[in-house]
Amino acid sequence: MEKQELLYEGKAKKLYQTNEPELLWVEYKDDATAFNGEKQEVLSGKGQLNNEISSLLFQMLADNGIPSHFEKKLSKTEQLVSKTDIIPLEVVVRNVVAGSLLRRTGIQEGTELDQAIVEFYYKDDELGDPLINHDHIRILQAAVPEQVEDMKAKALAVNETLQSHFQSCGLVLVDFKLEFGTKTDGTLLLADEISPDTCRLWDKKTREKFDKDVFRYGLGSLQDGYTEILKRLGGAAHD
Ligand code: C5P
Repeated sequence: MEKQELLYEGKAKKLYQTNEPELLWVEYKDDATAFNGEKQEVLSGKGQLNNEISSLLFQMLADNGIPSHFEKKLSKTEQLVSKTDIIPLEVVVRNVVAGSLLRRTGIQEGTELDQAIVEFYYKDDELGDPLINHDHIRILQAAVPEQVEDMKAKALAVNETLQSHFQSCGLVLVDFKLEFGTKTDGTLLLADEISPDTCRLWDKKTREKFDKDVFRYGLGSLQDGYTEILKRLGGAAHD
C-alpha cells in the first residue's frame, strides 16, 4: 500500500489518497482543538493515543457485527480506511447529561437518561456546527429521511456495544459523536473516529473525567486521561 497525495487536512487528522482508489490513509495529528478551534495546542502523543484507541474500538465493533470504514492499523499514528462520501451531519448519542445538553436544558450534569437520545448537528465550522432537526436536514439536503433513520438505528446499535464494553472496563460512556459516509454503491458506513476526542468517558466509581473535557476545561493532562482509557481497554501505551 502506497501513501499518496494529501486530500484533506482537518483539525485532528490528515487524509491521504492511496494507490487503491477505494482506500484512504489516515494520519492522526497531535493537535488538540476545542470550542470550534478557539482553543488550540499541540499535545505530543495525542495522535498516537487516538489512533490506538480508535483502532481498538472499530475492531471491537466489527467483532460485534458493526462494520465501519476501518480496515487496519498501519503504524502508531496511522490507519487504513475505506473511502466514503462523508454526510455533513454529526450524530451525537447521549446516555448521561453533560456538555451542551446541560447548557441547553439545565438538567444537572451526571443525570442518567432513562433511554439514550440521538441528536443531529450540521457539520459547518462557520455556523459552529448547530443542532438541527429533521426538517432542517431536509431543507439542507444533508441526507434523505431513510439515511437519517438508518444513522439513528446504527448509532443506537454502536451505543449498546460501546456502553457495555466501556462498562466492563470501569468506564461510563456519557456521550459520543459519530460520522457516517456513503460508499459508491450507496450503503451507509460508520466513518471518522471513535476516541476520547469524540466521546465523554468517566470513571464509573469516582466520575473522574478522562476525555477531551480535560483539555477543554483545563482539568489536567489530556495525555494522562487518554492513556488511562487505552490501558483500561487493554491496549498498550507505546513510548
Ligand atoms: O458538546 P456536546 O455536549 O454537544 O458534545 C457531545 C459529544 O460529542 C461529546 O462527547 C463531544 O466530545 C462530541 N463532539 C465531537 N465533535 C464535535 C462536537 C461534539 O466529537 N464537533
